[in-house]
Amino acid sequence: MLTTRSFSSLLLALGLPSCLTACASIDRVFPWESAKNETDKTWAQSTERPFEQPTLKPPKNRYFSLPGHGKVVAMTFDDGPRPWTMDLLDGLKERNIKATFFVVGRVVKTYPEVIKRIAAEGHELANHTWSHPKNMAHMPQRVVRRELDLCRDAIIEVAGVKPRLFRPPGGSFTKDQSVWIYDEYDYVNIMWSVDPEDWKRPGAEVLTNRIMNGWERSRGVHDGAIILAHDLHEPTVRAMPATLDALIAEGYSFLTVSQLLALDRPEAQLMMFPARVDADTLQPSPEAQPVTVKKANVIVEP
Ligand code: NI
Repeated sequence: MLTTRSFSSLLLALGLPSCLTACASIDRVFPWESAKNETDKTWAQSTERPFEQPTLKPPKNRYFSLPGHGKVVAMTFDDGPRPWTMDLLDGLKERNIKATFFVVGRVVKTYPEVIKRIAAEGHELANHTWSHPKNMAHMPQRVVRRELDLCRDAIIEVAGVKPRLFRPPGGSFTKDQSVWIYDEYDYVNIMWSVDPEDWKRPGAEVLTNRIMNGWERSRGVHDGAIILAHDLHEPTVRAMPATLDALIAEGYSFLTVSQLLALDRPEAQLMMFPARVDADTLQPSPEAQPVTVKKANVIVEP
């Protein structure tokens, strides 16, 4: 007899998207926290299978955005954490929004409580180097490796999560670096498509307006946008409640970057969350479960 569970497993085995049923519901802000559904059970059953990180990698080594899946965006926050990142997390939680944090390794251990909370609340932690060097494009490979390794190890040590994404500081890197970082680290290199230049501290209203409507140096929000902001800067954090509310009012939903990139690959949608890994081997801890696995396949726009 074919139970619902085994049917779902069969779908997975066949590589079919299990959103056949789940896709029916579309919520503006996703009900991640309450997603106790068949999709989750299916994942829970399948955790004994080997870690298949390479198969999860999106096909391109670098992304600026991922249009084509309706009104979804990924908010990204760089160069933190800082103490006020806690306030940002409060605002995200209130709105049930998941974001991506490109953290600087050397401050990860300064604010371990912030890092742990980022991971615990379902946001994505990503590698933004150890020391945020000014021009990575001109750095020797061994130095770049050290920057990536140290940041990765700090994230794993504090949060137990292996990052899957990399963003070069200032967006400065070469095509070669983009390729070997993708090939050897299994990182997807994440740029952005909306840049309000918040680090110049233009003021809260201007910041919101730039993200919503664009300005002379960047387009505004659009389907599949990856939005750049910096939780390093307290004024950016203070401007976020109004900005997030404006995005919600325009009908946008929010995904982490890995969730966004998985929209093109149904087979990756259940596996896009970082698994807990052993800090020594960088392999999944045998007893560990994925941090949280929720469905993201509610993204179907008519
Ligand atoms: Ni940066």
